[in-house]
Amino acid sequence: MTEDQVRDELLSLTSTGYETIGDALAWTLYLLARHPDVEAKVLDEVSAVLGGGEPAAEDLGKLTYTRQVLNESMRLYPPTWIFVRMALGPDTLPSGAPVAAGHKLYLSQYVVHRHPRYFPEPERFDPGRFTAEAMSAHPRFSYFPFGGGQRLCIGEQFAVLEMQAVLSQLLPAFRFELAAETVEPRPAITLRPKRGLAMVVQKRG
Ligand code: HEM
Repeated sequence: MTEDQVRDELLSLTSTGYETIGDALAWTLYLLARHPDVEAKVLDEVSAVLGGGEPAAEDLGKLTYTRQVLNESMRLYPPTWIFVRMALGPDTLPSGAPVAAGHKLYLSQYVVHRHPRYFPEPERFDPGRFTAEAMSAHPRFSYFPFGGGQRLCIGEQFAVLEMQAVLSQLLPAFRFELAAETVEPRPAITLRPKRGLAMVVQKRG
């Protein structure tokens, strides 16, 4: 790569790939703190796959339950919670609503991911929704934390690897307890906890 290409790659990584992953990990720690049964299953899987060691790239693909947990976390708290497309020409939506050239169409992961038609009892945190079998039954674009089509996130695979690697090292070493009574989402450019996420972190014995 030329120096310019290296600079461009670094810029993409820091501007698009830092806050999104930070948000997804924060929400995942929040959900795990509220669901100790799920956290215990993640710890069991990490221990079975890594045996207390650090992950190699091929190990991360074996952390299937951890992946389900991340998917369910990004369903409830999608870091990219909305994005926009502009119509190139006139069209009609499946609902019959007309679209004129230049109209903006807002697509919200937060809204679609919580629609009971696609995810029954949408407020319930249930990583079981993301077994390979359950996922193949989802209609296309009922779940799209990384967008889709031509502008699909280029960092999707990298982000998942990074999040699995971080969780596989953090969770066995530390216990995260919620220190705040309520944690509300704040829909800015990404979906962050409104006043940050206060947690008590204890080293596991
Ligand atoms: C949990 C982490 C991440 C989430 C939720 C996320 C989400 C998204 C979404 C929804 C889009 C599509 C936006 C649109 O269609 O308008 C997108 C695009 C993009 N993402 Fe990510 N992203 C994540 C991590 C990353 C990482 C780690 C990188 C860099 C390595 C990255 C780089 C990009 C780039 C460059 C695009 C634009 C692609 C294009 O327009 O062709 N993202 N991301």
